[in-house]
Amino acid sequence: MIINKVNKLEGTITVPADKSITHRAIMFASLADGISYINNYLPSEDCLTTLNIFRQMGVDIEQTETQLKIKGSGLFGLKKFNKPFNANNSGTTTRLISGILAGQNFSSEITGDESLSLRPMKRIITPLRQMGAEISAKDDNYLPIKINGSKILKAINYKSSIASAQVKSCVLFAGLYADGQTFYTEPEKSRNHTETMLKAFGADISVDKLTVAVKKCEKLYAREVIVPADISSAAFFIVAGLIIKNSHIIIKQVNINKTRSGILTVLKNMGADLTVSNINEVSGEAVADIEIKSSNLHSTNIDGSLIPSLVDEIPIIALCATQAEGVTTISGAGELRLKESDRLKLIATQLNKMGANITETKDGLIINGKTELKGCSVSTAKDHRMAMMLSIAALCADGQTTVEDSDCVNISFSNFYDVLKQICK
Ligand code: S3P
Repeated sequence: MIINKVNKLEGTITVPADKSITHRAIMFASLADGISYINNYLPSEDCLTTLNIFRQMGVDIEQTETQLKIKGSGLFGLKKFNKPFNANNSGTTTRLISGILAGQNFSSEITGDESLSLRPMKRIITPLRQMGAEISAKDDNYLPIKINGSKILKAINYKSSIASAQVKSCVLFAGLYADGQTFYTEPEKSRNHTETMLKAFGADISVDKLTVAVKKCEKLYAREVIVPADISSAAFFIVAGLIIKNSHIIIKQVNINKTRSGILTVLKNMGADLTVSNINEVSGEAVADIEIKSSNLHSTNIDGSLIPSLVDEIPIIALCATQAEGVTTISGAGELRLKESDRLKLIATQLNKMGANITETKDGLIINGKTELKGCSVSTAKDHRMAMMLSIAALCADGQTTVEDSDCVNISFSNFYDVLKQICK
């Protein structure tokens, strides 16, 4: 994508449905008894990967542009697929379905693309093995991973050292199949969509601060889910509106779940002119309109318990910090090296190429603002969030920027450039 500097951003937009919630809605509906309707689902590449895998296990899914009608197979009705599942680029698909596959009475194998094949799986293999699952993986950590399903999983009390919603969800899925009550404790609160949806689909689940407990389940009940707009997609426009002069944007009805909206807290701390209004609830998730006006921003420090609530927004927050006065530090974000790309490295190298002053640390970034950006050719490593962040950087950079492999935005936000064009003035 070739992108030139813009004068301002203006208009009212909606962003696509939440990726994390869409994945989970497909999974729970597939495991439920009865017909579930998933309205306003996200038809992005990652979510279609999940959808395809459940179809391959015999789940009947009818798909229109805005709705999925899923005739669930029940917790024990999935069918063996005789080939490896291809999880493509999707970490969420891989880690969450592993918990489900561990509880089946058939064996499965999961493969993925080059990026996914480099991402660690030991984090799910360890608890699943403790539950009695038989699993093997390349170097005991990477795809392809083979799961010899077992109907005799046992409940565990697992204390995780990483705040990962994917690991938590994997264990909770397996917990539905495990004798007894499974407890999962995380070091910081990660996104809680699995907990919310498990309850809605009828599982016996309770949450006590950082510990979630789920009991073995005989049946989940079909239901309707309305998927709210994804704050991780909205984040690109929120920051764009703040850092591009004379801008005024409204984003309608975005999910502002507390475990996801750390970016709003951080931007407010940086002096952002940002208003959250018209708060509603959709399928157990809080949503609101977000109004953004260009702002004079200053630096901030981001660390600790805030990180999981903005983990996917760190690339765009880093860009924001290049346009804020002072030194912004981000620490405790080592997980970013294990995403679709090594995001800490890519943020620093690519934004510095554009004129930013960013130093990489082991688990974070030191960003010296404010710096003028200039157009050049930037690499995305085919990472969707890097492509979208660099495209926003291009809008405020002097001259012309070429964003390489920009079609990777299809992983989470296929019409990203259309929405952007709508508000570029
Ligand atoms: C996700 C959890 C996060 C996030 C990812 C989606 C989920 O990953 O980065 O984009 O849907 O559970 P981790 O669990 O690895 O933190």
